[in-house]
Amino acid sequence: MKAVCLLGSPRTKGNSATLANHFMQAMQQAGVETKSFALNNLTYRGCQACYLCKTKADHCVLEDDLNPVLEAVMQTDILVMATPVYFGNVSSQLKTFFDRTFSFLVPDYHVASYKSRLAPGKKSVFIMCQGNPDENRFTDVFPNLEFFLQWFGFAENHLIRACGVRDQGEVRGHDAFFRQIEDVARQVLQR
Ligand SMILES: Cc1cc2nc3c(=O)[nH]c(=O)nc-3n(C[C@H](O)[C@H](O)[C@H](O)COP(=O)(O)O)c2cc1C
Repeated sequence: MKAVCLLGSPRTKGNSATLANHFMQAMQQAGVETKSFALNNLTYRGCQACYLCKTKADHCVLEDDLNPVLEAVMQTDILVMATPVYFGNVSSQLKTFFDRTFSFLVPDYHVASYKSRLAPGKKSVFIMCQGNPDENRFTDVFPNLEFFLQWFGFAENHLIRACGVRDQGEVRGHDAFFRQIEDVARQVLQR
């Protein structure tokens, strides 16, 4: 099994990265092949809407640091995405990656029953950290993302939220988040 982790925060020792790294350690301990990308260290553009991935190519034709990331996500069994909440949404680093996954969709995706160039049955874990302690805030972020993850063939999608964490690494003081990570890691490995 393979697991790919996309770190969406510019803070390499931040809350979302800390939780994501804990999850990836659990994967490694279970013998899963792991790879992590700190998106903020990469140089890449958003989707240019050239539609070449729908006409002349079966992949994104842009050439930049995101190519190996897109390729790794295509090949993985488990995708982990970790992000801070920025102005009620994912970070721009993660959003820009996500726009480029337009290339994962087959040309007739708007009518096709299976819309993806990716193999079915993948799993995902979405880790979202926010300063606001109110967990009723920003509840729309994951459902919006999951709708499209299902298009890509991700059949099992998990959400882990850490609310009320603001300072870098503040999440370390909250054991419950780490237990939740371990619980989801077990679930992902089970089936
Ligand atoms: C540009 C920016 C925008 C933010 N917007 C929000 C927000 O809309 N809601 C919120 O609860 N926290 C917001 N925060 C706080 C972060 O979500 C919070 O500090 C989070 O724990 C950071 O995660 P990280 O350590 O993984 O980067 C914002 C922080 C920054 C720097």
